[in-house]
Amino acid sequence: MSLWRKKDIGTMMEGAKQGNLSKDLGALDLTMLGIGAIIGTGIFVLTGTGALTAGPGLIFSFIIAAMACFFSALSYAEFASTVPISGSVYTYTYATLGELVAWIIGWDLILEYLLAVSAVSVGWSGYFQSLIGGLGIHVPKSLSAAPGAIPGATTYFNLPAFLIVVVITLLLSIGVKQSKRVNNIMVFVKLAVVLLFIFVGFSYVKPANWHPFLPFGFSGVFSTAALVFFAFIGFDAVASAAEETKNPNKNLPRGILFSLLICTLLYVVVSGIMTGIVPYKQFKGNVDHPISLAIQVAGIDWVAGIIDLGAILGMTTVMLVMLYGQTRIMFAMSRDGLMPKGFSEVHPKFRTPFKATWFLGIIAALMASFLPLQELAELVNIGTLSAFVLISVAVIVLRYTKPDLKRAFRCPAVPIIPGLAILFCGFLISQLGSATWLRFGIWLLIGLIIYFLYSRKHSRLNDES
Ligand code: ALA
Repeated sequence: MSLWRKKDIGTMMEGAKQGNLSKDLGALDLTMLGIGAIIGTGIFVLTGTGALTAGPGLIFSFIIAAMACFFSALSYAEFASTVPISGSVYTYTYATLGELVAWIIGWDLILEYLLAVSAVSVGWSGYFQSLIGGLGIHVPKSLSAAPGAIPGATTYFNLPAFLIVVVITLLLSIGVKQSKRVNNIMVFVKLAVVLLFIFVGFSYVKPANWHPFLPFGFSGVFSTAALVFFAFIGFDAVASAAEETKNPNKNLPRGILFSLLICTLLYVVVSGIMTGIVPYKQFKGNVDHPISLAIQVAGIDWVAGIIDLGAILGMTTVMLVMLYGQTRIMFAMSRDGLMPKGFSEVHPKFRTPFKATWFLGIIAALMASFLPLQELAELVNIGTLSAFVLISVAVIVLRYTKPDLKRAFRCPAVPIIPGLAILFCGFLISQLGSATWLRFGIWLLIGLIIYFLYSRKHSRLNDES
């Protein structure tokens, strides 16, 4: 029972062929899936917090975070095109670095996807309450946020966040097709809203607001990069859809890289315009709706309303893709015996992991109801960054241990590019707070206990050996 035992790539591909999941996603669908996962709370909510800690230098924070993602994405794409099997980076690690590391990665990804669903639903809840508030409808204060989320107010439960996660769970549990169609429409609306902000906001920029450009120096830029990294999370969810993709060898790398590139461009332009319209100090106490706030400052209220609505839809697609990715990773871990069998049961009618979707959806909904946004986002970031470091290590290892493996997409300049990914992601991890480090450590410890008490004994590799 070696901790480093590996799955054979050939056997995995055979096993996947017998799977029941339907294969109907193409490159365009995957790019839409990616954009659906990427643009959300990061740009619509966290830019406000970011402007306060980086000033107009927020643009640099986005660029640094994007570079970490870009280098990691190239590694991701190589794996995704080589081992197109459900479970994303977890599966790829199983074939290269062995079971224990794969388990740790899978466990990290739970932190990434599941808590991202919760974090985004909290951002969603804020925009939603603001929108219905404009119509005179108010959620009772005590049910409007997590305990302690609003200083000076007694709050117990974030009801809108809870309910939206339940709706998302329902959509996903009844089938990929329906979810994909809903996703595509909402991604379209979201892009339109971001472009509207750019075109309308552009003429209201006052270059004087960009001075000083770095009010908190580079240390502000760096720590903010570790937070707004959240805005890029999601491109990797594309990789988790491998088993439901047509011609994955070509379509997966395309989907990942296109979606990341488009979002980076949009973020840089949006944050430049936002800090150009609003002096960064004005975000103090106003960090819930920074994008629509900028438009209100410009004095065009009708556009601000549209942006609120677009942000709500935008965040909805993020939750769809994240919960989708999470159920597929659990699916893979369960098929390998590392998680209980129920997670890989496919519903006879809907052809989805129905029970797993509901189980995970309810957990995400409860976390969203009881925890504040910033804490959730930082935990998501540390889990994701750690996974990116491990995947970049895996690319390098695989080049040496399996040089002849057929790769439809090759990460350029190995080991330099994966090395840069490790460097950038490691740096961003170092910029996160010590409380986040501690929570992450506890999470890993719980994961290791489960691995040694349950997963190791139930691993399918035991039968094979
Ligand atoms: N990147 C996603 C967002 O910003 C998680 O909402």
